Order: sequence, then structure tokens, then C-alpha cells
Amino acid sequence: MELEGRRILLGITGSIAAYKAAPLCRLLKTAGADVRVVMTPLAKQFITPLTMATLSKHPILVEFFDPENGAWNSHISLGEWADCLLIAPATANTLAKMAAGIADNLLLTTYLSARCPVAIAPAMDLDMYAHPATQQNLRTLAGRGVHLIDPEEGELASGLTGKGRMADPERIAAFVEELLREKKKTLSGKRFVVTAGATIEPIDPVRFISNHSSGKMGYAIAGELARRGAEVTLVSGRTALPAPLDVRRVDVLSAAEMYDAATAAFDRADGAVMCAAVADYTPAEPADRKLKKGDSDLRIVLRRTRDIAAALGARKGDRLLVGFALETDHEADNARAKLEKKNFDFIVLNSLRDAGAGFRGDTNKVSLIDRAGRTDLPLMSKTEVAARIADRIEEELAAR
Ligand code: CTP
Repeated sequence: MELEGRRILLGITGSIAAYKAAPLCRLLKTAGADVRVVMTPLAKQFITPLTMATLSKHPILVEFFDPENGAWNSHISLGEWADCLLIAPATANTLAKMAAGIADNLLLTTYLSARCPVAIAPAMDLDMYAHPATQQNLRTLAGRGVHLIDPEEGELASGLTGKGRMADPERIAAFVEELLREKKKTLSGKRFVVTAGATIEPIDPVRFISNHSSGKMGYAIAGELARRGAEVTLVSGRTALPAPLDVRRVDVLSAAEMYDAATAAFDRADGAVMCAAVADYTPAEPADRKLKKGDSDLRIVLRRTRDIAAALGARKGDRLLVGFALETDHEADNARAKLEKKNFDFIVLNSLRDAGAGFRGDTNKVSLIDRAGRTDLPLMSKTEVAARIADRIEEELAAR
């Protein structure tokens, strides 16, 4: 691990997982980082300042003032000092305050004034983690560019089993190393279209046909391409996600609207990533009034939608086109057939048979398939998958 000379401000909040901040601090120090620790008042109940001061070789900061001599702990200079603010563990309470901009302790004021990258490793009970309020706060923070280090599934301090256990110190340290690695703007000057989310096909003014796509994978790709300097147009169907930083989002509803927006943006682009779950069929004649129920069955005639990816593939020229395939059987054969039919340069295959892959979740397990072969990636977060896809896009562009 390479963190020589990097300045990491480690924020510790009041969670049982605070004991893991000790090995985390050691790992960061061993990798060469200078670590300073800010604790919330409650965190002191879970791990002693003496332990953290000994490991970090700096006094611990908790209060705005030193009560002994009145010395002022400046949150602004702490934020300026740090190359990265890492909050591990981050409790539901601290996440909520961060999202709301509450500034009632030194760690929170430091967060609000920090200009460096911020990473959070949540730790909490599974129900607290899954609660809509917490999930909303995480989305808010992610939308503001805070990096989320996903908690893991496993046995929790409560004795329950589920998602909420703080990521292992090794994973957190590796995440910070990756975050601080000099990210060159390797895609600056390039333009991309990314489609994401589910389309909505109206049956009548109140009902529609759609699917389970959350949009997370496409949003992660759009964010990653933008982070590497690309100009990104995100053509988005229905999702609950905030637009990633520095991405131009065009909201659409139906497959027909997505077709128009994506083809228009593709004209000026260097490539497109087709991540949306586009309806293959749409009601042929959507009613302009709410359909009233009757006693007999209702038949709705569905008409094929236009295939956006195939349309872009047919006229792509030397532009790059990346597709997705979500399959339940004969995965590789189906994906290869789509690669050919839609003229993709490579296709990202999701198998719904793999645990942790596919809709809604924060993880994915994919294979990248092109005409020369196939690369199977392990289970990883959707953000990490997005980085691997962006790496592959860079390789393809460099080979042209
Ligand atoms: N796609 C598209 N426009 C459509 C349908 C699909 O752009 N109208 C894109 C998707 O974004 C994805 C790829 O094509 O990149 C998926 O291929 P597709 O054959 O449509 O997958 P399925 O809809 O799952 O098809 P099938 O029912 O044949 O499995």
C-alpha cells in the first residue's frame, strides 16, 4: 500500500465498530500516511483517546476548545491540512447530521469546511441502515460527492445478521489509497452519452409498464467518466438517484423519449454506454382517460419499441458503443448475440444467477465480453465496476 506522506484525517463516531479504528489507523500509518484523529464526544465511550493518540502519534481532537488552556481547535485548518477526511465508523446519526449540515461537534464542523475528498464507512444495525431516512441521507451525501465505503453483510453487534457491519480496515485503507491515487483527467475532451434507469410506458394517465432497474449502475458509470474529465450526458429514465457531479442529466420517461434524447446526444459524442433498462414493448394505444375496470379480462396490445442501442450501433462509425445484457440463462451466448446484433464494441454481462448481481443492490458481478474474449470480474461495488468499465473504455479509445 502506498500512502507515503498523505495526510489523513480520521473521524471516529460513537459505534461499537470504533474499535476497528485502531487497526485502521495502524494500517494507514504503516502505509506511510500521517494520521490525525477527530472523535465525536460519544466515540470516547467506545475507544479511548489514549489508544488513538498512541497509534496516530498525535493528540486526539474532540472539542472546539481545549478546556485546560482554552486553545482553539480550528476545524478550518484541519480541513485544509487533510488530503482526505475518512469517517470510520460513521453512525446513522453522524450521516444524518452531515446530510442536514448540522455542525454541533468538531468532526461535523470539519466536514462542512473540508475541501478534500471525504469518505465514509457506515456502521450500524441492519434496520437502521435499511431505514429510508438513512438511505436518503446516503444518497444525498453521494450526490454531493462523498465516497461511500459500503458496509458488509454479517453478524452485527446486536446479534442480528444483515448489512450494516463496517467494512474491514484493510478494505477501507485500500479504498482510501485508490481515492488518493492521482486521478489524471484521462478522458478530458471526450464526450459520452450514458443511458440509465427504467423507462415508463403509459397504459393510461395513471398506470404504466416499467421494470426494476434502479439506475445505480448507469449513474456510477456516468459519475466515473465525468470524474475522469469526460463531458457526460446522462439520459435517465425513472430513478430515485441524484445526478452525479459534473454530469448533464436529461430526464425522460418512455422508450420513445429516451430514443430521441440519446440519438440527439450521440451525434456529438465519442461514445455511448447503454445501461438503461428500456422497455421492449409499449402499449400501442395508451388511453387518454383512466381505464375503468369491467368484469371481463383486459387485453392491452403492446407494440415493439425502437432499439436505441441498435440504432446507435448502425451509425456509430468510429465511435465507441458499450452495451449491457442482463440474462438468466445461456448468458454468454445471449450476450455475444447482442454484441453482434447491436454492433457493440464490448458488452457487460450481468447474470441474475449470481448472488449480489443485478437490480437495486449496491454490488454487481459482471463479465466484459468482446469479440476477442471474456473477462470475469469478481463481486464488487457498482462504483468499482464503473471504474473497471471506464478503464476498459480508455483502453479501447487508446487502441484506435
Ligand atoms: N437497449 C436499448 N434500447 C432498447 C432495448 C435495449 O438501448 N429498446 C439496450 C440496453 O440498454 C442494453 C442492451 O440494449 O444495453 C440490452 O439488450 P436487449 O436485447 O434489449 O436486452 P433485453 O431487453 O434484456 O432483451 P431480451 O428480451 O432479448 O433478452
